[in-house]
Order: sequence, then C-alpha cells, then structure tokens
Amino acid sequence: MCGIVGYVGKRRAAPVLIDGLYELEYRGYDSVGIALSDGKRLKIIKKTGRVQEIEPAREERGNVGIGHTRWATHGGVTERNAHPHAFKNIVLVHNGIIENAAFLKEECLERGETFSSETDSEVIAHLIANVYRGDLLKAVAEGTKRLVGSYALAVMCIEEPDTVVCARMRSPLIAGKGKDGLVVASDVPAAAEEGATLFALSDGEFAKLKGEDLFFYDASLHEISKEPIEFDPVDDVPDLKGYRHYMRKEIDEIPKVLSLSQAKISRNSCFSDFYEVLCQTKYIQIVACGTAYHSGLCAKEAIERICRVPADVYVASEYRYGDPLIPDGTLVIAISQSGETADTLAAVRLAKERGAYIAAVTNVTYSSLTRLADTVLYTKAGREIAVAATKSFNAQLMTLYSIVSALAATLGKEAPSVGGLSAMAESAVITAESVRSWTPHFAGAKSAYFIGRGADRYAAMEGSLKLKEISYLPSEGYAAGELKHGTLALIEKGTPVVAVITRREIADKTMSAIHEVYARGATVFLVTCFPELCKTPEVTASAVIPECPPEYSPILSVIPLQMLAYYTSVARGNNPDKPRNLAKSVTVE
Ligand code: F6R
Repeated sequence: MCGIVGYVGKRRAAPVLIDGLYELEYRGYDSVGIALSDGKRLKIIKKTGRVQEIEPAREERGNVGIGHTRWATHGGVTERNAHPHAFKNIVLVHNGIIENAAFLKEECLERGETFSSETDSEVIAHLIANVYRGDLLKAVAEGTKRLVGSYALAVMCIEEPDTVVCARMRSPLIAGKGKDGLVVASDVPAAAEEGATLFALSDGEFAKLKGEDLFFYDASLHEISKEPIEFDPVDDVPDLKGYRHYMRKEIDEIPKVLSLSQAKISRNSCFSDFYEVLCQTKYIQIVACGTAYHSGLCAKEAIERICRVPADVYVASEYRYGDPLIPDGTLVIAISQSGETADTLAAVRLAKERGAYIAAVTNVTYSSLTRLADTVLYTKAGREIAVAATKSFNAQLMTLYSIVSALAATLGKEAPSVGGLSAMAESAVITAESVRSWTPHFAGAKSAYFIGRGADRYAAMEGSLKLKEISYLPSEGYAAGELKHGTLALIEKGTPVVAVITRREIADKTMSAIHEVYARGATVFLVTCFPELCKTPEVTASAVIPECPPEYSPILSVIPLQMLAYYTSVARGNNPDKPRNLAKSVTVE
C-alpha cells in the first residue's frame, strides 16, 4: 500500500512532507523516509517505524522533496528497504507492486548493477536512470513502460533539482497547487491545504511539478488539462476530541453517519437514473473485501428476503480470477470505503469488460472506484482514521438498505423503512458500552467464537474480524448450526462465545447452539433484541439492542461487537487505531 507525498515550492519541504506523511500513515506505517533537494545536493533520510521517527528532519534545508510511509510487500521492515530508493542520479518513492520486478532486477544484475534493498521499487530507479538523457519526464515515461503491476511514483533527479515527476498506474495519485507551492500525494487530505486546487491523475498519466508550474501529460506525453476535484479539507481535520482512540470516537459517530448517509441517498441526483437500472435488474452480484464484503453479505440477506431477487456476494480477489458469469440483467455492486482497494477495482474492471452495469458504494468522492462506476452512491461516514472499519460499515449498510428499498419499489413490494435506524443506533451505542465488562474473558483467552444465523451470522463474522485485527486473538465468525460439524471441537472450558440473535423465528435454534457450546465449557455472551433471552442461565452477560426489522439488524447488532473488539484490544495493551501488519487502504493485490 504505502503513501507517497512530494513538494516543490517556496517553503522548506521537510515540514510539508512530514505533515503529509502523518496524514498518510493509515496506508502503512512500517518505515518512513524523505528525500530533499536544496538545489545543490540531494539528501535521503529514512528510518524504520512511524513518521515521528523522522521528526528531527523538519529542520533540514531544501524546498523540493518527496516522502514515503511504507507497508512492506517486497522485503522486510528494515531501513534499507524503506523509501526513497536511489540509483545513480535518480531518487524515487513508490506505492504499488511491480509484478515483473524479479525479471527486471535479473537484467540489471547481469549488467553489473547493484541493489541496496530487497524491494521491487528499487528496480524502477534503475530503469529510469538507465534511460535518463537530460529529461526526467521522458525518462520516467520510458522507464515505466517496462513495468507490469501498479505504481504511483514521485521521482527526483540530481540534475533537475527544482522538479518532481509523477506517474500513476492503478495506485491513487493527487497533484495540485497550493498558496506557496506544488504538491503531490496519495490522497486528498495529505495534499490539501486551504485554497489548494487539486487534480486526480488517471492511469497512464504523468505530472511534472517544476518551479511554480504544474503540468499534466497523457501516456504519449502530450500535455493535457484536467478538471479540479472537489474536496472539503476544513470539515475533515482529524481531531480526537478528548477520546483516547479514533476507533472509540468513530463508534460513537455511528448514529450521526447513519442519518447523514440516509439523507445523502434521498438527495442523490444519480438515484433517479439508477432507479431505471434497478427496474431492469434480475440478479445482483456484490464484490468487496474485508468489512465491506461483510456489508455485502448483509445486503444479500436483505435483497433476497425483501425483494426476492437473487444476489451473490464475492470476495473481490476471488471474483477477478473466477471467470464470473454475468447474465443479462445483472447489476454489480462494488462496496469500498476507500474506493481504492486494488482487488475490488480489478473485479469491477472485469465485470465492466463483461458488460455489467456497476454501482459503487463508497465513502471517498474522488476515488478510483468512482471513476470506474456507472453510478456512485456515497456513504457519509466522514473520514475514518482508525484502521479497523466501524462507522463506515454501518454507513455502507444504510446505503445498501436504501438500494434494497428502491429495488423493492420497482417490484411493487414494500421494504421496511430505514427511518429510525439512526435513533436506534444511538441507544445501541449506549448499551454497547457495557460490553467493556466482558473484556476480562476475552483479553486472556486463546481464541473466541461469534455465532449467529442468517443476518446475525454476518454480524458475527464482522465482529470476529474486528476482534482479530486489533486484538490479535484467533477468532471465527460462524454459522451457529454449522458449529457441530467440526468447529465445536475447539470449544474448551472458558472459551468465550458470542451469540447474536435478532430474528425471533430462529432464536430457539441459535439458543440450541448456545446450549451445545455451554455444555462443552464455553463462557457465553449474547447480543440480542429480546431481553427475555438474557435470563437464560447459560448466558454470562448480554447486551440488548433495539429491535429493528430483522433484515436490517446487523446495522445495530454489530455495534456491541465493535465495542468488544475495541476494549479487548485496549485491555491487551494494543493500539486499536494502528494494528500491526495492516493498513487502511489496501492498494496492492
Ligand atoms: C477491516 C477493514 C478491511 C477493509 C477492506 C476493504 O476493519 O477495514 O477489512 O474493509 O480492506 O477496504 P475498502 O472498504 O476500503 O475497500
């Protein structure tokens, strides 16, 4: 993944780069580095660890520079593997993966060139340096021709100290003009300052930041003009507002983002055109990854139960290699908070090639997904700083349930109203705080299980993913009825099991699973909207959420599970906002 940033301007570059890198830390935080030019010399500073490791470099001289925060793909977390990478007169930072790096590196080694890192990125510096003939832009265009894979690049050259050249292929890149300089970055918040004009590069395009001028070029190096993108840097400034962690704050924001997302979709001008598409829809395929995949599963449940339209949900990385069948009348819905997830984008490209109509559900207005989709339905989760998705999941559900309502309307069916969910979420957030008292059972456990049936199972899967990613506790989200076919063997004395029950007709069935795990020593916790179930002697503790239409229940039942993951992570001494090995935006395959 990684985040890249660059600056050419009147200010000292180091503070601009370092502040930009803090904004990009959500993309990876294994190691960090910057390169600075003061017109005479080019200096590289890099460290393992987070951006704060290079704070002392703020004082360094130079008005031109590039920076990088890394999420390791090729090569371990070492200073040598940290970016920027240099070869001869070329220094660069890279976000993406070069799939033919081993082959290209072999060629370089045969020519006697040496490498100082194990990264795929260093080979790009070799390719560019080897074709450099006094014009950095041309060298970047020429050198990148041989790359297979994804890249966003910011490149400097010792002979052109006032210039940064950038290239984009399947990794996001924003360039723009601020008050006193030119910027480039992996995303808007890292590039934005009051009054800046920002532009998003498309695949195959280049940008040149030189002196006071910003130029854009197409793949043949013809200069092009671009439309600025809309953004609002002021509203979205990260602020803990007294909370210890962003994740906890973001859970509290769920009721607000539900009402904003609902209002957004009712005002969405695309929605009337999209309604026509829904009228023709006979089958729905949903593609997404991680938490967004779970919101897709929840949507499938609602689509099939309410609209009786068949729907399938695919992990995007499987869909793209699965040779999918897309019959006429198929609507493909891609769900992605960031709109930059490489696997989801690849699945969308494949579906498009095969003629599908693409609706995107995303939180980021200028993302790559918005540019690929035929219709974009924005969630209004606001900026989510914690790596683990919480409020964005709930916002996705609100938008997806609104699609369900519209689809139902095209079929002359009535869907339950989504109005009221925001108020119910408010009460769920308050109740959920009580799960803090469950954490001693989880913090010292070897593993944990989350069980449910139907929509409850999908909430359980999401609860399990949250616990895994921020507590590092092995955990499974499982179909309650499937436990006895194998997984029950893992239940021992004290194993924590969380059951989710929100559909009355199947409550007894999940209660049977509770009896089965309890009989094998499990400590059972319950998330339910039926208070009478909490009196069951096998249940150690419970969280009661408001009763909403059962097709929509994950939007509420997930809240105590998000809270449980948060408090367990804190109890285990972790930083829930920055889990190890993960990054917020997964722009590699
Ligand atoms: C988990 C989490 C990830 C993301 C996944 C997809 O908390 O955040 O599983 O949901 O990487 O990301 P987006 O939604 O940006 O496509």
